[in-house]
Amino acid sequence: MSDGALIRLRGVTKTYGQGAVAFQALKGIDLDIAAGEFVAVMGPSGSGKSTVMNLLGCLDTPTAGEYLFDGIAVQRLDRDARARLRRRHLGFVFQGFNLLARTSALENVELPLVYRGENRAARRAASMAALAEVGLTDWADHTPAELSGGQQQRVAIARAIVTRPTVLLADEPTGNLDTERSREIMQLLQRLNHEQGITVLMVTHEPEMAAFARRIVHFRDGRVERDERLQEEPV
Ligand SMILES: Nc1ncnc2c1ncn2[C@@H]1O[C@H](COP(=O)(O)OP(=O)(O)OP(=O)(O)O)[C@@H](O)[C@H]1O
Ligand SMILES: [Mg+2]
Repeated sequence: MSDGALIRLRGVTKTYGQGAVAFQALKGIDLDIAAGEFVAVMGPSGSGKSTVMNLLGCLDTPTAGEYLFDGIAVQRLDRDARARLRRRHLGFVFQGFNLLARTSALENVELPLVYRGENRAARRAASMAALAEVGLTDWADHTPAELSGGQQQRVAIARAIVTRPTVLLADEPTGNLDTERSREIMQLLQRLNHEQGITVLMVTHEPEMAAFARRIVHFRDGRVERDERLQEEPV
């Protein structure tokens, strides 16, 4: 895109419910994120962090305002086109890992490629490569119950990157992990950002984890309260 913004939100609002129970979770968000950034999103509970992540991930639609992804007006796409954009460009990691329980790590990682209709050999190769990137080659045949929390989250990250997404969206990826495991996940996200150029957006409540990012966007009451650059962006 000509001016460098991979993600651009302008005047984005989100209202849940209608009438007397309507609640405005986002009250006008303007936000630009360039390709290759590693951004942490912080803010009190209920300030709209997950709401904005769901909008960015095309899992939900704004009530008003504009969302441009690589120059494409997402709000003007129909449902199918939005789903294609999501499958092609976006990877998701959640606090609760969201792995299929009775399914091996390898099969969990393969799932997005099944949806893409890739053949078995291609799926297998790409999924083993993704598991190798998160350091779990030897755990491919294990089910989530046989893995630690940190390992499960690494499987979830492998599943998110197996499609080679442009953007990785992680909503409290370390929320269920102890400090040491959390640091390992942050180092992994940092490496994916540096080495593969994946744009990373991560929600966290922990300042220590946010410090792994190069920029922190602070939310409060459905607004961006502060946009903090931790370090010069590489030229
Ligand atoms: N599906 C929904 N229906 C109604 N209200 C909702 C819905 N989802 C979120 N909200 C409300 O919108 C506000 C923002 O919620 P959101 O989940 O974005 O907060 P958050 O910043 O992610 O908080 P947390 O740190 O607790 O995860 C909250 O007041 C929440 O109750
Ligand atoms: Mg949340």
